[in-house]
Amino acid sequence: MSAIKTHDLTKKFKNLTAVDRLNIEIEKGELFGMLGPNGAGKTTTIKMLGTLIKPTSGTAVVWGHNVLTEKDEVRSNIGIVFQDPSLDIRLTGAENLDFHARMYGLSKEKRKKRIKEVLDLVELTEHAKTLVIKYSGGMKRRLEIARGLMHFPHVLFLDEPTLGLDPQTRRRIWDYIKKMTSEEEVTAIITTHYMDEADFLCDRIAIIDFGKIVALDNSKNLKQAVGADVISLQIGDGEEKFLELLKGVDWVQKITEHDGLIDLNVQQGETKIPEIVSLAQKAGIRIKSVNLREPTLEDVFLKYTGRTIRQEEGGAKSLMKERVRSVERRR
Ligand SMILES: Nc1ncnc2c1ncn2[C@@H]1O[C@H](COP(=O)(O)OP(=O)(O)OP(=O)(O)O)[C@@H](O)[C@H]1O
Ligand SMILES: [Mg+2]
Repeated sequence: MSAIKTHDLTKKFKNLTAVDRLNIEIEKGELFGMLGPNGAGKTTTIKMLGTLIKPTSGTAVVWGHNVLTEKDEVRSNIGIVFQDPSLDIRLTGAENLDFHARMYGLSKEKRKKRIKEVLDLVELTEHAKTLVIKYSGGMKRRLEIARGLMHFPHVLFLDEPTLGLDPQTRRRIWDYIKKMTSEEEVTAIITTHYMDEADFLCDRIAIIDFGKIVALDNSKNLKQAVGADVISLQIGDGEEKFLELLKGVDWVQKITEHDGLIDLNVQQGETKIPEIVSLAQKAGIRIKSVNLREPTLEDVFLKYTGRTIRQEEGGAKSLMKERVRSVERRR
């Protein structure tokens, strides 16, 4: 049995199709990412899988239960960490957790033990008795993750878990998420519009645009599908001679000269660097520097949508500018 399976899952709001025939199958224990720009349909998908809103059509099965006909069973097996903060700031950290666990009917003894465990996991034990109003943004987010785990869910949904946090705090949250999936054996579904987050955390990533999956695979395969790596070379004397030699190499897909550098498009760049170095040595040419750049998830998004995620956030004007730039980049 998979943790989650959807078939043509669809949500329409009047004329707008927020989620458009989504088909995903998530394995138990997987850390699954949904990467997409603002308005792509990420939160709507999570709300349907979490039984908070009804699909317009299609089906979804979460931990063996149908989201339409077995709401209670689905709810008891999942936890959700929402995009918008939902803690009670007038209570302490521990009280927030206790309140949540009572709603799930955990006994007093179990609650006490579990509060300790989840606070330990996100390193908030020292702040258990501090009012949440005094917590920093990062601490609040950690407490929300802890709360999502309180009732031992099999599946945890994390909607934009690091939105608005500084880079250092984001890294720490990533560590907790990794730790959580290994120590607690939960299946996690994370939505994000941060490329680095999806890249670092997720076993597989579904790239979502306008409610549709445009690509789904692990990060490595997604990037490989974009195509070539770029090797940038800076060489001493004999540039012309070296260019001639490179033109004769069959695995060099493209050669571009710019700013005193030679850029080569090649597949699996790391395996090609030694060959380039030995080619230069044989011809008596000195390589001053070699730099390998792999495609990023941003390149993947660009390939499938013609836009970059970052500019999607920036409004229509910058979007136009970016479209021009992305066409240039694709050339
Ligand atoms: N209750 C609603 N009524 C009408 N339209 C809605 C409603 N909820 C969401 N939408 C629309 O559905 C689309 C998808 O929204 P959703 O919140 O799922 O996107 P998202 O990928 O989570 O975006 P973000 O990155 O901004 O959180 C958007 O165009 C949004 O305006
Ligand atoms: Mg959202």
